[in-house]
Amino acid sequence: MIETVSLSNAAGTSLDVITVGAAITALRVADRDGNIEDIVLGFDEPDQYLDNPNYFGVVVGRFANRIAQGRFQIDNRAYQVAQNQGDNHLHGGPTGFHLREWSVADSGDTRPENAITLNYRSLDGEEQFPGNLDVSVTYRLTDANELVIDYSASTDKPTILNLTQHSYFNLAGHASGSILDHELCIHADRYTPQRPDQIPTGEIAPLDNTPLDLRTPARIGDVLSQSHQQLTYGGGLDHNYVLKDAFDATLQLVAEVREPVSGRVMRVLTDQPGMQAYTGNFIGEGCAGKDGATYGPHQGLCLETQHFSDAPNHSNFPSTLLLPGQVFASRTVYQFGIG
Ligand code: GLA
Repeated sequence: MIETVSLSNAAGTSLDVITVGAAITALRVADRDGNIEDIVLGFDEPDQYLDNPNYFGVVVGRFANRIAQGRFQIDNRAYQVAQNQGDNHLHGGPTGFHLREWSVADSGDTRPENAITLNYRSLDGEEQFPGNLDVSVTYRLTDANELVIDYSASTDKPTILNLTQHSYFNLAGHASGSILDHELCIHADRYTPQRPDQIPTGEIAPLDNTPLDLRTPARIGDVLSQSHQQLTYGGGLDHNYVLKDAFDATLQLVAEVREPVSGRVMRVLTDQPGMQAYTGNFIGEGCAGKDGATYGPHQGLCLETQHFSDAPNHSNFPSTLLLPGQVFASRTVYQFGIG
């Protein structure tokens, strides 16, 4: 049975989460006039998340983003995982964490009103990844209007891990059309350029003199309308920004988004070394969403904090290896305000 849990805070913000994919199905936030609107794309019915090709709202794993040819090695042993996007692996394979039933920890009266933890045990060999992996994600809404997301994971065999939250934000409201008028600022000076099939070349390149340099806030529409080879490969922005060179627990402010009409602002903080900024390029025209809305390309913005795409095949990228005895712990915060 798919369960739905709702959280709320003193600022009037509320969040709905379901057990399929640990998905965020609604996030209602006030605009500058106090009007509350749902600002994430999604479906009306929980069971629609069982067929979710755009990954609306879900936690992606065991390995978010891409693995070239679906191949990687651990301790000189070769592994082959699903090639579910052309020749490459995407987002944990056809039955990744986004389609799995997570269980609610602490579903009784002891559960705090503003937080929920979901657990998932991914078995050794599931989607051909090695090791039994126990994963948990906690969503917490603070009275400072932050959505705090804590991940933890441990394994009984060496494995690879890359988790992310795949919510599509439209700060004007999920049904209000394009995100091209949103202003986006990303505090990064480097990125990982990609090949035409969206696999990183392996280079860590400066953003200087590219339209992907968002250290000064830019209107997303103005970014996408520029001509640059990297923007043609993913049909827009679909790139990993380099936030730090090695994973550590320091939380830093990495991105800020502002929607001029509603005045809603979202800040992203994370301890992760990378962030995939994705402008919803692959949302199909006429995609049926919540409340009778119809979505299309560039109607949602994902700011997916994570390790770098294809990290297992690039020794110069922060490692995604998780060993028995280690605990992976990571935090990302989406903070809401008016600006
Ligand atoms: C990520 C990827 C995109 C796309 C979406 C899901 O953001 O980087 O290329 O696969 O997920 O549609």
